[in-house]
Amino acid sequence: MLFAALLAVLPALAQAGSTISGHATVYYDLTNSLCGNNDPFPSNWAETSGINSGIPYCEFHASPGQSLAQLGTNRIVAVNATAMNLDAASLCGKQVSIKDASGNEFSFSEGPLFIWDACDAARTVPIVDLSAKAFSELKGNTCSGNNPTGLTISIEDNNIWQPISKRDEKPRVRSRHFAQLD
Ligand SMILES: *[C@@H]1O[C@H](CO)[C@@H](O)[C@H](O)[C@H]1NC(C)=O
Repeated sequence: MLFAALLAVLPALAQAGSTISGHATVYYDLTNSLCGNNDPFPSNWAETSGINSGIPYCEFHASPGQSLAQLGTNRIVAVNATAMNLDAASLCGKQVSIKDASGNEFSFSEGPLFIWDACDAARTVPIVDLSAKAFSELKGNTCSGNNPTGLTISIEDNNIWQPISKRDEKPRVRSRHFAQLD
């Protein structure tokens, strides 16, 4: 009964204004210095795995799309790939806010986090996937231990970056990404 009631009040993280209870994971590291030394990953994990040179989902309409390293920000997060497939136009660029298990709002040192990527694991598990810098700050400047759980993860209504739309499908200048609204 409790489970059913929770499902009813916690909509899937699929649209602006939605909130879920979930946990955070880490998937890239532009500093190339965090979460390595087997804490928990081997050194240079984000370079040797190729993830830093991966092109995030929201570069879909860009030609050429830029990699995480080229975009150069640790503020990108990845959310539910099913929801992204359904409605990337409205999700890309939206601010994501996170409250920790105690209800304290997480304030990232580099500014608000925003959606620019899709996470496959988050199709079925309530996850927000972060940069190593954001992940370690969220955990109190460490990567060790478990993924932080009990988070309140919200997609806000405001855009930090503007989504790249189909009509933008042409070579773009890098500055387009930095037309930040905040
Ligand atoms: C991911 O999004 C889809 C589509 O909105 C939704 O059906 C699914 O429940 C979501 N998954 C999670 C873990 O919230």
